[in-house]
Amino acid sequence: MIELNVNGKLVRLDVDPETPLLWALRDTLQLTGTKYGCGQGLCGACTVHVDGSPLRACSTPVSAVVGRKISTIEVVEAERVGKAVQAAWRKLDVVQCGYCQSGQIMSAVALLRQNRKPSDADIDAAMSGNLCRCATYVRIRAAIHEAARSLA
Ligand code: FES
Repeated sequence: MIELNVNGKLVRLDVDPETPLLWALRDTLQLTGTKYGCGQGLCGACTVHVDGSPLRACSTPVSAVVGRKISTIEVVEAERVGKAVQAAWRKLDVVQCGYCQSGQIMSAVALLRQNRKPSDADIDAAMSGNLCRCATYVRIRAAIHEAARSLA
């Protein structure tokens, strides 16, 4: 039995300690907002926050996050930065197919928590691990600037 702190709640999971966090979230906890893309830590679709930092859930075993605070897209709007980022995403109509956007938003929120006025270069560096097949990168960058303005 593994005990995890997910979205502010302690949950006990009957899973193998080597189970990827992504499967524990999606299959066991039904938190399906976090997506599976490559399964190899390369695309960023599965990005969640662990102790506030972005982490690839597909390539992290649940045993590695015991005792740490895991947050998913389902609760991102509960705090100010997440709310601002989601509002900017809606305002600028960022999403195309949408599949990668949970991960994009989680990375954007982590960036803006650390840097309230990121440059284009800061954004590109922070978001470089999140791929988008629809190439919404220009709108993502604009939305991060928009969220930063709204948080100023
Ligand atoms: Fe985790 Fe691609 S699914 S990085």
